[in-house]
Amino acid sequence: MELSRIETRQAADEAITFVLDHDVFATPLTPGEIQVLRQDPYDSLEGQPSAYWFCRDAMDRMAALIGIREHINHTGIYEMTCIAVSRALRQTGIGTRMLQAALQYIRDTGGRGMLVDTSDHPAYEPMRKLLIRSGFTRVGHLPSFYYPGEGTLLYYRLLEPEGAL
Ligand SMILES: CC(C)(COP(=O)(O)OP(=O)(O)OC[C@H]1O[C@@H](n2cnc3c(N)ncnc32)[C@H](O)[C@@H]1OP(=O)(O)O)[C@@H](O)C(=O)NCCC(=O)NCCS
Repeated sequence: MELSRIETRQAADEAITFVLDHDVFATPLTPGEIQVLRQDPYDSLEGQPSAYWFCRDAMDRMAALIGIREHINHTGIYEMTCIAVSRALRQTGIGTRMLQAALQYIRDTGGRGMLVDTSDHPAYEPMRKLLIRSGFTRVGHLPSFYYPGEGTLLYYRLLEPEGAL
């Protein structure tokens, strides 16, 4: 399945519709996450330091998305804004490929690493496994950070030559 960069407004429209579908994430996004996902794919078209990649399914529907944007410090560390694969296509390697593509982009553009925040809800175990398999280290846990009862796990990967933590 081909992985493409979001380079048009139409692809950004489709990506936003896909990722904000209520069936994608196991728990509700925060208001701030929704705000970022509604705007950042468009900003990535305007030369902002963010980038999005997607895959289409056999019916040509958007079926997977990953987004990264440089942290507000602007010193080469990127944050993941989203990663999601449609239910039907999970466990076929797309999530891994998208994360590798994002890390390669950071490397190629002189970036230094990636910070990921994800939920501590049990439904996010596949995300946690994906991050560990991809060389990330769990560096923190903020209880009840997203919502009361739903905390945030922080994962971090520094790229070579600085190396892993
Ligand atoms: C987290 C998520 C993006 C992972 O995407 P994915 O495409 O399913 O990930 P992969 O297929 O690369 O890897 C998942 C598993 O499938 C396995 N796998 C990969 N290719 C495979 C194949 N061809 N056949 C069988 N298994 C395969 C991987 O080894 C991995 O196994 P694991 O259970 O040991 O981790 C996906 O589960 C998802 O969209 N979840 C909902 C949204 C979400 O939670 N996002 C994170 C928000 S922070």
